[in-house]
Amino acid sequence: MSHNVFILGSGGREHALCLKLSKSIKVKALYYSSGPLKDNLIPNPAMVDLAEYVSLDILDGADIVAFCKNKAIDLVVIGPEAPAAAGIADILTKNNISVFGPTQAAAQLEASKAFTKDLCKEASIPTAAYHVYDDLQSALEGLDNFSLPVVIKADGLASGKGVVIAHTKIEAEKTINDMFDGAFGIAGAKIVLEEFLSGEEASFFVLSDGENIIPLTSAQDHKAAYDGDKGPNTGGMGAYSPAPIMTDIMTEKVIETIIKPTLVKMQEKGTPFKGVLYAGLMIVEDQPYLIEYNVRFGDPECQVIMERLTSDLFDLLYGAATSLENVASPKWSEDYALTVVMASEGYPAQPVTGQKIVLPDRLDEKVTIYHAGTSLLDKDIISTGGRVLNVTAYGKAVSEACMLSYKTISDIRFDQSFYRKDIGHRALTREDSLDLKKAAI
Ligand code: AMP
Ligand code: GLY
Repeated sequence: MSHNVFILGSGGREHALCLKLSKSIKVKALYYSSGPLKDNLIPNPAMVDLAEYVSLDILDGADIVAFCKNKAIDLVVIGPEAPAAAGIADILTKNNISVFGPTQAAAQLEASKAFTKDLCKEASIPTAAYHVYDDLQSALEGLDNFSLPVVIKADGLASGKGVVIAHTKIEAEKTINDMFDGAFGIAGAKIVLEEFLSGEEASFFVLSDGENIIPLTSAQDHKAAYDGDKGPNTGGMGAYSPAPIMTDIMTEKVIETIIKPTLVKMQEKGTPFKGVLYAGLMIVEDQPYLIEYNVRFGDPECQVIMERLTSDLFDLLYGAATSLENVASPKWSEDYALTVVMASEGYPAQPVTGQKIVLPDRLDEKVTIYHAGTSLLDKDIISTGGRVLNVTAYGKAVSEACMLSYKTISDIRFDQSFYRKDIGHRALTREDSLDLKKAAI
């Protein structure tokens, strides 16, 4: 049977989901939306070739339900966190429309850092030591209980920007003052102080239908804006998959000590988690610690994960929305995938938009350019966001994918843009040292 699917979101992550869904024989028609149309700009010109844009407010449950009924939508796929946190899945479920994405209560795993830290404590899940504060004075006093550097997090959603690692007490006090002063709006009405963990980061993704789980795969992103992991935190400037640190043994540890106890606890609370759970991990001396949860695919991690997926994506997403009981575990290509984000100058603070972009006429078969912050204006592709393009490639090694991505970037015309030149550096160093070891044998 063929299905109609409606994707909420129009960034690189949704482009990757849309492209994969368009290849499923089970999908008949695809629709997508990221809001009402403005200034004749149609978001994501590359998705326009695969799906029909719908001009509606993606936080308005009634509008979404009306559209789904009108077009006989069989599955709604929630891309970003905001519609999940706004309870769109709850409204769709009440109207008997299948939805890939968590309820508002389950979205707390991302929408409240304090909620997740408390859940970790209740379920004995390894995570950094922490304390939650809801007033300035106690937070400032609480600082003395943490050594430096200290991690300071706004409790609520802040587009990945609400985390500060303070290296001095003065910096920590200023950050706490700023957060309670509204630097992140109501997201900072409550804050979490956290012990700094030093290790290697990785992300791991699992699907859940509330009861059953299907582990997906791992990825590694680069959150800092500039080379050498310098500069402000962003939504992610590049990623690769799989993350070499996520060996089979490490994956097993993550599933047993972090993922399963979380999903069991969510069931016990009467708020089972459905959708994709993204665990942000820090591996410290071979032990995984949970840094944070997201209740959606990562962006740009999704792009590299989808490059490697060889199974039918519709089956997986529909399974998580309904039941995963009879869904087979997905298959992955042996390749590595890597993506480099081309961002607008000024991102993340104040991106310059409105630049015309000219893409190469032909691409290597191993290369895909996902659109993240573009729009179609007449026949031109225009930059309309901070993170604009995700130049993605796969290859037998991270080095091959990396070389192809950067080669493609050199063929793209996009003024007032920047990108990191060192995406994949940790994995490349590992590959280099493996090559040296092989050469020595
Ligand atoms: P989050 O938004 O919670 O993922 O935090 C953003 C980034 O801050 C993470 O990807 C880590 O690089 C860093 N971070 C967060 N919490 C910690 C911690 N407890 N120790 C060290 N680094 C952290
Ligand atoms: N790339 C990080 C995120 O999607 O949260």
